[in-house]
Amino acid sequence: MLHRKVRKAVVPVAGLGTRVLPGTKVTPKELLNVVDRPILSYVVEEARAAGIEHIIFVTGRFKGAIEDYFDHQVELEAQLKAKGKTDILEAMLAELPRPGEMSFVRQMQPLGLGHAVWCARDLIGDEPFAVILPDMVMDAETPALKQAIDAHRQTGSNIIVVEAVPEDQTHQYGVVALETREGRLNRMTGMVEKPAKGTAPSNLIVSGRYILQPEIFDLLETQDRGAGGEIQLTDSMFRLMQTQSFHALEYDGVTYDCGDKIGLLRANVALALKRDDLKDAAREALSPLFS
Ligand code: G1P
Repeated sequence: MLHRKVRKAVVPVAGLGTRVLPGTKVTPKELLNVVDRPILSYVVEEARAAGIEHIIFVTGRFKGAIEDYFDHQVELEAQLKAKGKTDILEAMLAELPRPGEMSFVRQMQPLGLGHAVWCARDLIGDEPFAVILPDMVMDAETPALKQAIDAHRQTGSNIIVVEAVPEDQTHQYGVVALETREGRLNRMTGMVEKPAKGTAPSNLIVSGRYILQPEIFDLLETQDRGAGGEIQLTDSMFRLMQTQSFHALEYDGVTYDCGDKIGLLRANVALALKRDDLKDAAREALSPLFS
């Protein structure tokens, strides 16, 4: 099989962030801070480290701040420069895209994740691509998306990054079925979105990084509504599985669901404790809270 490089990533950012309201009333949830930079900053860093050359954000109404975040803030930059705060200025400038590295497309109705990904079809064209769900911040020595791309190269398959959760939580996610479970990378035989309690085919959930072939778009175009009345990516992937292979990758790393109150709190604490410039102060400030 001819392996084409995975160059583009779709990042759906149209969701409402209801689990962390009212904090997301005027701030897109993707711009909530984890330590000192927004969730999206971690995701873009991961994509770049995995060799992604073009990021396509699927946005919605009231998400304009995301586009502004990835542009110059001329007055602020001038002030930081005048005050000699070059470290902060350099950190800010390093996040900015190369001209043309980012595109923004609107999902004009909240019809579901499958519909959001489909909105990016013209910008992806006819090549394999990544999908990154930005709520899921993945902390890993080898970036999670790079692990997925390596698995795609190795197998030629569509890849879904998965992780184990307690069985009483599987109904909140997409869940995969495996042929056999040996090691971290296994051929899939099925998947289901939000299975009813007690019916999940495994405890491995679809956790937010995918490598997909472009044939998914034709299936998304005709996809009926599924769980929650939404056009589900999982349902079209299941149909694609009838003609193409899929592998599930249990990646090596830790996931923080930053769309959730406790997940966001965990990410802030854990990632501050990993930072050389913050870990001592963070430990000193936090440990009395547990004594
Ligand atoms: C989406 C996907 C689901 C996946 C989940 C991970 O669901 O449809 O398959 O397991 O993200 O967070 P949502 O969280 O949008 O309901």
